[in-house]
Amino acid sequence: MILIEADINAYKKFLEEKPDIVFNIAEGSVGLSREAQIPSILDFLNIPYTASDPLTLSICLNKARTKEILSYYKIPTARFSLVYSTKELIESNLEFPIIIKPIAEGSSKGVFDSSLIYSATQVNGFIDKYINEYRQPLIAEEFLPGREFTVALMGNGNELEVLPIVEINFAALPKDINPIYSYEAKWIFDSPEHQLDMYLCPPDIDSDLESRIKKTCVDTFNALNCKDWSRIDIRLDKNNIPNVIEVNPLPGILPDPKNNSCYPKSARVAGLNYDDMINNVLHFALKRYGMS
Ligand SMILES: Nc1ncnc2c1ncn2[C@@H]1O[C@H](COP(=O)(O)OP(=O)(O)O)[C@@H](O)[C@H]1O
Ligand SMILES: [Mg+2]
Repeated sequence: MILIEADINAYKKFLEEKPDIVFNIAEGSVGLSREAQIPSILDFLNIPYTASDPLTLSICLNKARTKEILSYYKIPTARFSLVYSTKELIESNLEFPIIIKPIAEGSSKGVFDSSLIYSATQVNGFIDKYINEYRQPLIAEEFLPGREFTVALMGNGNELEVLPIVEINFAALPKDINPIYSYEAKWIFDSPEHQLDMYLCPPDIDSDLESRIKKTCVDTFNALNCKDWSRIDIRLDKNNIPNVIEVNPLPGILPDPKNNSCYPKSARVAGLNYDDMINNVLHFALKRYGMS
């Protein structure tokens, strides 16, 4: 096994090393196609790789395009609008509260406690500041008020498995903080030094809700043509219907349990240690390419 950095020399390295298969975890750093770049190079060089293809990776990095596809397949997701100005937000007819996020980020970048907006008066100045800062359109979504879960999936086709569901336990947050998995919640209140008891796995849910969440996630994985693995964020709407917030076809996998990466956490509860988790994903990719 060799490690190849996903930098401008990657193409040369792939040519030199001619790997049988690449375990792709490259999120890229430049542009809105950044997660698709390494898989596109690998497709061009005819080198197999784990996880989704460039099309799925590009779509899932764009929260609005993802939601458009989910809507086509009638998979519940919060109403939304792309906004470039305060005026557009006011005219969008979305119902407050509204959450505003950069359209193509992850790890709660740009999703702050203050991104939950309760009324039009709160919007002033916010949109222009964000557009300047993140240099991309913003997505405004109606707020889903219910419980939040994140769901790890592994496999393909009829071997697709939903690993134990993780609930984000907002009760662990300081009382004056909004119940969203914001930048503050993910990276400031929870750190390896001061771990927040923010995760329930398995959560306390009845079997009906569990199977509805699982079905929504399997349908989503298939609708977006995800491969080998993904982590899907889910939140219940006011009628307790699981809605998809976003799809992560390259889930975060920080190995140290203290970092609270949800995919490895769910895998551990399923009885898979870190190596098992990686090997199983690799196994599904090899099988998909007819290499096992
Ligand atoms: N429509 C929504 N309703 C309620 N909460 C939301 C909504 N969209 C995002 N959030 C909250 O913001 C968090 C981060 O949003 P998400 O789209 O998952 O961004 P990231 O890609 O940074 O993880 C979610 O985990 C959730 O807590
Ligand atoms: Mg998320």
